[in-house]
Amino acid sequence: MVSELSINRKQECPNIKDIKERLEINYLSKPNLVNSSDDGQDIIQGLTQPQKTLPARYFYDAKGSQLFEKICELPEYYPTRTEADILEQYATEIANTTAPCDLVELGSGSSTKTRLLLDAYQNSRYPTHYIPIDVSGSILEASAEQLLQDYESLKIRGQVGTYQQALNNLPPSILSRRMVFFLGSSLGNFTPQECDRFFAQIAKVLNPGDYFLLGIDLQKPVDILEAAYNDAQGITAAFNLNMLSHLNWRFGSNFNLELFKHQAIYNISKHQIEMHLHCQENHAIDFKNLDLTVDFKLGTSIRTEISRKFNLEHMQQYLTTMGLKHIKSWSDQKKWFGIVLCQV
Ligand code: AVI
Repeated sequence: MVSELSINRKQECPNIKDIKERLEINYLSKPNLVNSSDDGQDIIQGLTQPQKTLPARYFYDAKGSQLFEKICELPEYYPTRTEADILEQYATEIANTTAPCDLVELGSGSSTKTRLLLDAYQNSRYPTHYIPIDVSGSILEASAEQLLQDYESLKIRGQVGTYQQALNNLPPSILSRRMVFFLGSSLGNFTPQECDRFFAQIAKVLNPGDYFLLGIDLQKPVDILEAAYNDAQGITAAFNLNMLSHLNWRFGSNFNLELFKHQAIYNISKHQIEMHLHCQENHAIDFKNLDLTVDFKLGTSIRTEISRKFNLEHMQQYLTTMGLKHIKSWSDQKKWFGIVLCQV
């Protein structure tokens, strides 16, 4: 399904026709659904284990996406800022290393950091073809539209769907090479097994010579990590609890948010932040749409997310074993965040 920009909303914009000609959006999953296999089986599976879990993808309804944007601006949440600083400093070097290529972004969201790369490719006088991939059609459309207004020669072919769907349906490259990029340390939200599957798919769908650019959060003292996920304003707590509201409207459950408390702790041996919702009182939750009732006891926790923290050298070696040869890495002065460029 190819969507078109709404003409009514854009009448004040002089080059609407030009923008429409430079934009194509392909829906790989149904609009308004997190993905097409949204039947709640993952909820049933996660909530019936001894350590209850919920998939992190349920953070991102409209409110959750807004809360995440706020998290990125928190003083304690250093990853977004630090990665943007690295890109600001090295985007030109990245563009010079890869030469012109189609820019494919996994989890493009509001495409804020993308602008640093687009600027670098444009300043190097390279043609700019951008393929954003995101599960949220509304965010992708809004950010694509804004980018096309700001970059006059940019062409966008957005793909709305999961990473898996989008990687299996990548449009043919226009330029001779592609660079797929995956920023914000979203890789950290994958288990090691999910990482293996993800990179196996990347290596399979990319052609020899294509590039992969990865942003990863690095290991650092526990107090800095825990503060980043237990911020003083309580935005991360609201983001975590909002997952329960999301389940309420999507699956007809009756979670009372006041009966759960947010906590993020760093698991030192696994090098990962673990986000939990701790139950404050014995009670049962019914999921009307799933024919499911789950008992919660005082002190029971639901793990809603892991956020792994990496070692740059280990990542370079791991990527090589997955068929992605390390080309160059960049970091900030404190070595808090890393960006790795590799090539198939
Ligand atoms: C999206 N992801 C990389 C964020 C992270 O840091 O793991 C999600 C997040 N959870 C709490 N704060 C931010």
